[in-house]
Amino acid sequence: NTGALWGGRFATGPAEAMAALSKSTHFDWALAPYDLRASQAHARVLHQAGLLGEDDLATMLDGLTSLAADVAGGAFVAAESDEDVHGALERGLIERVGPEVGGRLRAGRSRNDQVATLFRMWLRDAVRQIAIGLLDVIDAIVGQAAAHPDAVMPGKTHLQAAQPILLAHQLLAHAHPLLRDIQRLKDFDRRAAVSPYGSGALAGSSLGLNPDAIAAELGFDAAAENSIDATSSRDFAAEAAFVLAMIGVDLSRMAEEIILWSTPEFGYITLADAWSTGSSIMPQKKNPDVSELTRGKAGRLIGNLTGLLATLKAQPLAYNRDLQEDKEPVFDSVAQLQLLLPAIAGLVSTLEFHEDRMAELAPAGFTLATDIAEWLVREGVPFRVAHEAAGACVKVAEGRGVGLDELTDGELAAVDPHLTPRVREVLTVRGSIDSRDARGGTAGVRVAEQLAGVREAAARL
Ligand code: ARG
Repeated sequence: NTGALWGGRFATGPAEAMAALSKSTHFDWALAPYDLRASQAHARVLHQAGLLGEDDLATMLDGLTSLAADVAGGAFVAAESDEDVHGALERGLIERVGPEVGGRLRAGRSRNDQVATLFRMWLRDAVRQIAIGLLDVIDAIVGQAAAHPDAVMPGKTHLQAAQPILLAHQLLAHAHPLLRDIQRLKDFDRRAAVSPYGSGALAGSSLGLNPDAIAAELGFDAAAENSIDATSSRDFAAEAAFVLAMIGVDLSRMAEEIILWSTPEFGYITLADAWSTGSSIMPQKKNPDVSELTRGKAGRLIGNLTGLLATLKAQPLAYNRDLQEDKEPVFDSVAQLQLLLPAIAGLVSTLEFHEDRMAELAPAGFTLATDIAEWLVREGVPFRVAHEAAGACVKVAEGRGVGLDELTDGELAAVDPHLTPRVREVLTVRGSIDSRDARGGTAGVRVAEQLAGVREAAARL
């Protein structure tokens, strides 16, 4: 069995169902390019340690280079007999350079330190791609905020009309968490930049190899300090899975709003044809499938995180084969986001906003009531009293079926003598929005500042 990395002490090969259960080449093939790079680095430290002659090193490096080309071009693929990508690639190397040279590569390393290292390398690259995709989504949000600097809308809490706000303020509220998610990815990367290579199966290598040289060659900041930890811990994978799930959750919040806003009942937005779908039976339908898939995939990303944590829970040190289950959920989270991010960016950047509709609804539901209360506070009235008075205004207006701005001078004065006609200066959507001009507020000046800040933060990432 040319693909097997073990077998000396076994009288027979594995049973068919054993081999089927054990096999991971259908997913860990993604690690192949990293495996080959790491093998080149390993060959060099074997040479430095005097365990691989000059000529053998050259032969081995050539073999690995040709194998890498064949893997990239699809000429070398996993065979039925290969258990995992590591065994398959050793088979490929031996096929190219013979067992005398090819059989030397594995000295001083184990699949345990290999797979832990390669998974980190794969994930660090993947996470960089995700960050780039996220930046495109942030760009799309920022672009819409910049294109609608004056548009107003009803701000909501509990999905009930709360206070008028600027559309740009609401849009940017979705950009900030995504910026933090990118920061989380970068933070993850700092901790993931430690190389397990050289840890062997669990206890380290006796062959005088240099883990620091491999770590540096593979782009890590350092080699691991504890070989047991390095081969058995997967908190780096769980941390990445968390950030990926958080991204899904953050995107799902925006997706949910897009779904609501595109209904005729809200009527805030129209989705571009290219980013929506139709119905096979109802000809009039235009469905927000990008957003719905975002919501759905958020659930899947959460599942990948919790599944991985469950795999890791209570595993005794050091490596256990349970750990082979670590890769698929993380690979899947990355793959789902790679599908999702360009679609969301496309969806958001092509949303058509109906500013008139949003402006019409901005004061509906007595969203200026807080402005009455705060105006009274500025007139020296205690907030408890002001809150009651503003509430009474709502009651009168609701009873008469009018807006707060339509209450007569007499009605206002009857509620509270402090309510002089001057209160009308805050009883407009504009007045309300402009008055919220402290840092972080919805006033135009603040939102413009914020937009510049988000742009700058995104450019710095
Ligand atoms: N394929 C395994 C994994 O993905 C690595 C192999 C370790 N196997 C072993 N028997 N120690 O985790």
